[in-house]
Amino acid sequence: MPELEIRNLHVNAGDKVILRGVDLKVGSGEIHALMGPNGSGKSTLANVIMGHPNLEVTDGQVLFDGQDITEADTDERSRLGLFMAFQYPVAIPGVTVTKYLRTVLNAHRASRGEEPISLRDFRKVVTDAMALTKVPEEFSRRYLNDGFSGGEKKRMEILQLALQKPSLAILDETDSGLDIDALRTVSEGVNTVAAAQGASLGLLIITHYQRILHLIQPSHVHILYRGRIVKEGGPELVGVLEEKGYGWITEPIDAAEAAAVG
Ligand SMILES: Nc1ncnc2c1ncn2[C@@H]1O[C@H](COP(=O)(O)OP(=O)(O)OP(=O)(O)O)[C@@H](O)[C@H]1O
Ligand SMILES: [Mg+2]
Repeated sequence: MPELEIRNLHVNAGDKVILRGVDLKVGSGEIHALMGPNGSGKSTLANVIMGHPNLEVTDGQVLFDGQDITEADTDERSRLGLFMAFQYPVAIPGVTVTKYLRTVLNAHRASRGEEPISLRDFRKVVTDAMALTKVPEEFSRRYLNDGFSGGEKKRMEILQLALQKPSLAILDETDSGLDIDALRTVSEGVNTVAAAQGASLGLLIITHYQRILHLIQPSHVHILYRGRIVKEGGPELVGVLEEKGYGWITEPIDAAEAAAVG
């Protein structure tokens, strides 16, 4: 049973302390939402789960499928079945979409001891994934994310998700900057991949808005603030936040910290 477990995670970037003891568990087939004010550490948590080299784990562990991956490199995590759709996908001028997707797909196959995918099979899986995510066919000849609009980049991330079939996917603000139709396309894409994989796909969705959570419904909601999970609940929490904002959660924490500092 692939399961992501984060235990008492403390993370620094340089000498800045960003995460200060995060505990989080995402079981296989579960959908979790991670919310919280700007700068609270959500992307940092996602990046450290994927093994970003500039982040230093000073305490705690990341376990996946029972295996301690705290020190594993990003490639290894990806081969184990972890996937992340980035908040700011990067462009790779000079590498076409086709070339990139085929390289990634074959790297995964090689790690499972499989032969490279045939051109015919590759065309078929890519065509299906493009149809699912409504990425136009001609994009396959363009350089990855180069000159793509914000929404196009986000759809390209979901296309990669559909191809890689990970067992745990983190979507970091994949909904931001999407128009209403693109949001629906992205959500349908994620739901289709999830349905196809049944209980084997766990999802961690980082977002600021409830609209994506109406389309991809979480069972658990976690609020991160100042590098700690400060509130947890079910889907009803999302509506409360939309109505009341974060102040009722963050103000008592700020007050307690101010008192502690003196
Ligand atoms: N490499 C780094 N060096 C220094 N500070 C960093 C680094 N990475 C992140 N931070 C800081 O850590 C804090 C948390 O950043 P992070 O991107 O995780 O926030 P977030 O919760 O994803 O916010 P948003 O909702 O705006 O995306 C911010 O203050 C950010 O400036
Ligand atoms: Mg972020």
